[in-house]
Amino acid sequence: MNRRIAVYWAVTMSMVAACSDEGGASSNDAVQNGIPTVISVEPMAGPALLTVAQDLDPQPNVVEVYLEAKVSTHELAPGVMTELWTYNGFFPGPTIEAKVGDTVRVRLANKLPEATTIHWHGLRVPASMDGVPTMQSPIQPGQEFTYEFVVPDAGTFWYHPHIRSDVQVERGLLGVVVVRGENEPATTTDTVVVLDDVLVLKSGELVAFGADQVMVGRQGNLLLANGKANPTFLLQPNGIHRFRFVNGANARFFRLRFDGASAVQIGTDGGLLPSPQALDELLLVPGERAELVVTAHANAGKSTSWVSAPYDRGHGTGAAPEAVVFMTKTHGDAVEPPPMLPSPLTKIEALGKPVANRTLVFQEMEGMNHGTGSGGGGHAGHGDPTTGGGVMPPMFMFNGKMWPNPETFSGHLGTTEDWVLDNQAEMDHPFHLHGFRFQLVDADGQASPQKGWRDTVNVAAKQKVTIRVDVRDNAGEWMFHCHILEHAENGMVGIFNVAPDGGP
Ligand code: C2O
Ligand code: CU
Repeated sequence: MNRRIAVYWAVTMSMVAACSDEGGASSNDAVQNGIPTVISVEPMAGPALLTVAQDLDPQPNVVEVYLEAKVSTHELAPGVMTELWTYNGFFPGPTIEAKVGDTVRVRLANKLPEATTIHWHGLRVPASMDGVPTMQSPIQPGQEFTYEFVVPDAGTFWYHPHIRSDVQVERGLLGVVVVRGENEPATTTDTVVVLDDVLVLKSGELVAFGADQVMVGRQGNLLLANGKANPTFLLQPNGIHRFRFVNGANARFFRLRFDGASAVQIGTDGGLLPSPQALDELLLVPGERAELVVTAHANAGKSTSWVSAPYDRGHGTGAAPEAVVFMTKTHGDAVEPPPMLPSPLTKIEALGKPVANRTLVFQEMEGMNHGTGSGGGGHAGHGDPTTGGGVMPPMFMFNGKMWPNPETFSGHLGTTEDWVLDNQAEMDHPFHLHGFRFQLVDADGQASPQKGWRDTVNVAAKQKVTIRVDVRDNAGEWMFHCHILEHAENGMVGIFNVAPDGGP
């Protein structure tokens, strides 16, 4: 460990030390609502490109992948070794690449000490393949399950467990699915970047999970891009470089700033935008994806720091200072002539008249601190020995209801619905809907300028956002929830039941 890391560890660890002893997680005045200080580390050497999953089926329109969920140890920052749960020993897991219309078959073998599932976030798959425990029996240790579905849309999607997701995703179970369409813009490079954070001790061990991490979600003290602290992505000078960003963190909102780089946004959760949009920062909330194209400087040797800037999502979260997530650096000979993005990029169809107008009110109730020693508070039934107690966690609701007695909407296939997401809570909640895509209609009465497809949208504290849901395929029971995983695990989940008939 070098000197710079050691200094920051010393500062940070006094703050998280209170959470480190087994079964005794307690709140600490230095950690306001469990928001620890980010550790500053030296850049990781070497490329941070994700491994692409091997396609085991020779047929051109079938992608078959074997995933083994297992324990493995990873160097996240220089000298920081962390035992994680991973797919095939990769963190993040292998990227599954497919074309629109392909059949994707994934055999998952569970070699973990507890049950798991895989949810295909953003992919419109049949409800039986969605990986939620209401539609699938969890895959027990030593068991296997094969997921199979056709991928209907181009875009950047991701996969993660949908059982104890607060713990399982933090431990490292996540990966990306890239689906390409016929008219992808030609770019110099096309790179997936998973933004994440983990909460670790000086030893590299994950800090114990505890009820004190629920209010604002478990926010990490080590920022990661593709599983590494502060890696560098090389850009060919003059090139146009596509980055597919995925926020895989439990709770952190990445407000990415990249002063000095020239970037446009070309895609959202559900693929390309109609045309590139200028931007000088990107807010990416948990679960969300965005695609940027960075035009590299004409000369080699120019670098840009991509920082996570302060963002106030309520309850004191705005106080965290800015920290570097990764770097880009120009390298090699320039691309000649400089390439250009096509415009328009794609067409996005307007949706029909909504047949239903629903309102979903977001609410939260603060928890109570009972001191230490009660053990496992709020995580009853989870049975995790690393779950500390002592604090009664806060509660999160939709329309006054909490999982497992959720608000339940009933809809019909072949329709369009408008949902007003009315956040009356004291903090932002990133909303995610399974099974269907939506478009933004307005936020606080202002028409949304962005016409992309989404499955995840931030609803800021006290904000009202209207979304238009395309209830097109796949009848069945679907979840919607806050993607701060601790909020979902503590009640903020609802059900959208879609009948196969066409009528409203
Ligand atoms: Cu990415 Cu229901 O989740
Ligand atoms: Cu939330």
